[in-house]
Amino acid sequence: MASLVEGFSSFAVSSLNTYRKKTAAYLNNNAGASGSRRATRVLPPPRFLARHGYLPRLPDVERVVENLSTMEGVAMSENGNGFWSGRKVLVTGATGIIGSWLVKELVARSADVVALVLDSNPQTELYRSGTIGRVHVVNGRLEDFSTVNRAVVAYSVDTVLHLGAQAIVEVATMSPLATFETNIRGTWNVLEVCRQHRSFVERIVVASSDKAYGEQDDLPYTEDMALRPRYPYEVSKSCAI
Ligand SMILES: NC(=O)c1ccc[n+]([C@@H]2O[C@H](COP(=O)([O-])OP(=O)(O)OC[C@H]3O[C@@H](n4cnc5c(N)ncnc54)[C@H](O)[C@@H]3O)[C@@H](O)[C@H]2O)c1
Repeated sequence: MASLVEGFSSFAVSSLNTYRKKTAAYLNNNAGASGSRRATRVLPPPRFLARHGYLPRLPDVERVVENLSTMEGVAMSENGNGFWSGRKVLVTGATGIIGSWLVKELVARSADVVALVLDSNPQTELYRSGTIGRVHVVNGRLEDFSTVNRAVVAYSVDTVLHLGAQAIVEVATMSPLATFETNIRGTWNVLEVCRQHRSFVERIVVASSDKAYGEQDDLPYTEDMALRPRYPYEVSKSCAI
């Protein structure tokens, strides 16, 4: 995936504080579903991440959380060649945990960023950092083809970084149809818009997940493993891999 975009090396995944707030908000919003959840306002990292389906990689998770308390360790390399400068980049999921920090890094590298934003959320890093005021904002849903199309065409986007998703495993289990709409239809909308405008869209990165491979006997996951999704989030990610 990363090879599709020269200079896009990696972005780390770890913002414990944001995850805690997100989990607390989620638990509060769903307090009616289970009384026992109400008291759990902040989960310790391993249990929190387990909620998101990352049990198989618990030792790695613990190591990451130990070493990084925020996404400040996020890293993008560009070999010093100014690859991103002036580049017109659409980021879906721009208010998300990864998207917020990615947009910040892109703006710091003088990219001309278009952010697809579903909900304005002042608690996200995109807003907190003020980065929102330095990007073009298109509001709407990934499921809406015309919204995605407008985001790409109106700004003559040449690079699409597709991170937008319903990314919470437990929500996917409770709301599989909505998750499929966002994660599968949303992804094919992005790909189809890019296909239709391939005269100027030069590159696309789609964020997948190790969850697309489902349960495997041999870990760590490798990209040549068979896809064995079982649960809704896994299915949604394997369809959009
Ligand atoms: N964070 C991880 O540990 C991890 C691991 C593997 C893969 N991923 C993938 O990376 C991507 C980003 O993950 P994240 O942790 O930043 O997720 P996140 O939940 O923090 O952010 C998701 C973003 O998608 C947006 N979004 C959700 N539904 C939408 C819709 N219908 N239309 C438009 N936008 C919508 C949200 O507003 C948010 O900005 C996702 O595709 C996720 O599946 C994340």
